[in-house]
Amino acid sequence: MSENTTGSIQSVSKESRRFTPSDEFRAGAEVKSRAEYEALWKRSIDDPNGFWLEQAKALPWRTAPTKALEWREPHAKWFEDGELNASECCLDRWKGTANWQKAALVWEGEPFDAQGQPEIVTLTYAQLHDRVVRLAAKLRRNGIEKGDRVAIYMGMVPEVVVAMLACARIGAPHTVVFGGFASDALRDRIIDCGAKALVTQDMSYRRGNEVKLWEAAKAAVEQCPTIATVIVHARRPDHAAMDDAAFQKRFSLGEEDYDETASPTMMKGKRLVRFTSKGDGKFAAGEGDAVALPAEHSLFVLYTSGSTGKPKGVLHTTGGYILGAHLTCRYVFDLKPSDLFFCTADVGWVTGHSYIAYGPLATGATCIMFEGAPNFPEPDRLWDIIERHRVSILYTAPTAIRAFIRTGEEWPQKHDMSSLRLLGTVGEPINPEAWLWYHRVIGGGRCPIVDTWWQTETGSIAITTLPGAVDAKPGSAGLPFFGIHPKVVDQEGNEVAANAGGKLILAGPSPSMLRTIWGDDERFKTAYWSDVPHVYTTGDGARKDEDGYFWVVGRIDDVLNVAGHRIGTAEIESALVSHPSVAEAAAVGRPDDLKGQALVVFVTLKSGIEPTDALRKQLLDHVSKEIGKFARPDGLRFAGALPKTRSGKIMRRLLKDLASGVESKGDTSTLEDLNVLAALRGASE
Ligand code: WTA
Repeated sequence: MSENTTGSIQSVSKESRRFTPSDEFRAGAEVKSRAEYEALWKRSIDDPNGFWLEQAKALPWRTAPTKALEWREPHAKWFEDGELNASECCLDRWKGTANWQKAALVWEGEPFDAQGQPEIVTLTYAQLHDRVVRLAAKLRRNGIEKGDRVAIYMGMVPEVVVAMLACARIGAPHTVVFGGFASDALRDRIIDCGAKALVTQDMSYRRGNEVKLWEAAKAAVEQCPTIATVIVHARRPDHAAMDDAAFQKRFSLGEEDYDETASPTMMKGKRLVRFTSKGDGKFAAGEGDAVALPAEHSLFVLYTSGSTGKPKGVLHTTGGYILGAHLTCRYVFDLKPSDLFFCTADVGWVTGHSYIAYGPLATGATCIMFEGAPNFPEPDRLWDIIERHRVSILYTAPTAIRAFIRTGEEWPQKHDMSSLRLLGTVGEPINPEAWLWYHRVIGGGRCPIVDTWWQTETGSIAITTLPGAVDAKPGSAGLPFFGIHPKVVDQEGNEVAANAGGKLILAGPSPSMLRTIWGDDERFKTAYWSDVPHVYTTGDGARKDEDGYFWVVGRIDDVLNVAGHRIGTAEIESALVSHPSVAEAAAVGRPDDLKGQALVVFVTLKSGIEPTDALRKQLLDHVSKEIGKFARPDGLRFAGALPKTRSGKIMRRLLKDLASGVESKGDTSTLEDLNVLAALRGASE
């Protein structure tokens, strides 16, 4: 890759730099020039049926579809008469090819043993298939049928991928709940989608600590009447994280189907089953077989934050989703079966769904899966993994890159990362400085960087820089992927001029886009298809430059992006007001060098309650307990009152300025009581 800064005045600003793909990279890429990209993109928009039916041939259909899109705004159906199975797309299709005996997953645990070695598990496609078949049979034997929902609450272990694919195999939509969520958040998600079973594990390791998944899972399912079966994977061979000794012993013998009388500390009335990861094979032939499913069969529900308190269960279906995940792997990551792909996201977020599980496996690549924190025990853990395994593609988030910049170049420099050939980023806008550092220090100046803009709702990458085809501009997400028609518009939906800011919308549906919100189609319509008429509202603000590149500036709704985690301000606020001392709360973001945004909350207390440091800590702990540690606010200010409009709406804009320490320039004429603002200025965090 070469830098070709132009000679114009603007070239002194980093934002005008462009990085052109090297001839070598271009030669091996799927799309080799901007002209070729433009032609394909235009066809995908002008002739969606022709384009997508052709692209869909990449999947192993049981029954090939004869039509692509059926659109009744805002509901899309894709490949409706086609039938397939997502687990077959990821596994069975490689039977009889060279991929079958090749590693599908290479997993590395966080702890090092006495010899300084981490635990490493490699599963070939054949082995992964075998485990998926066994678990699929086990699910069936426990009464899970096509259409039943299964919740998955696990750490980063190969078994979480086994669980997802086993669900897909029998047509049971999964809902993976990030292992960092607290018990109450898990309970709410299980209840919302009415899951019949939970797949969980005893514990996992993160940053040298034990994550007590079993404890949280137990507390949650006790309050979930729909859960009949709990399947537990034991991460620790000694079962020490499980409850009582008798249970541990029986569990380690591989017994199943405990009833409520087995132990007083066990879950009442739930069937408890051991996760079979290897061995026993006590199931009938065919019990683990994949079923052919209509393309529009639900594949998974994934909860994400929106601008009201309740998380949204984003529903993805089978055919369109798997096609999007697969094609973006090929076109955007240039992913080949010979690649070792390392996506550092947790499988509990959409990035882990599409780019650890479904996309790379449907492309026949090998995925690295790492259990722990990227800077544990030393700040070079990630670089150590890249060197030892010879990773070829790294996909991570700007917040992680900024943290690495802070710990210093000496850590990556200790490692030979010459195996890397492509880098990717996702989750938030990347500041050009971080982009340039990533390019120079991690990519050795030779690896293209693909910035990838997308959302839980789009299912797969929607705006990006196709690595062999177009120049990269540090800080810009790039150009639309096939079938994506983004525009920057004003409130009426009129496209604004080049470089002017506005709302980022998508003009129509694409195959991997969400179909609805689980159990709440009205909310689907109002949240995505009503703000600007007849288009999909992303919730992001952006500008499009004269060259057609999109520059995303961040959320414009009440959603924050804290260290790559999407957090709704309303969720934090409702967690706070659920505490008996709190009268009212407002959550806002303030710019943060490391996390992108930091979360600051303003709290008014019920009368008679004194603001103390002990109470502050209690409230912060309360948010951790209700939602999860990752959502713990960075600052909390007590306030006598919150600034409101005359109609009673909290003026978050003013609070945001206050939290950022900037003088509000905006209009305060609608403020009901100016004294409130003056009082808040002095408050400490
Ligand atoms: C933000 C994560 C700028 C954006 C895949 C979006 C980005 C939200 C980028 C979705 C990027 C994601 N550049 N902003 N490359 N990627 N975002 O649902 O605000 O967790 O709407 O999906 O993250 O977050 P989500």
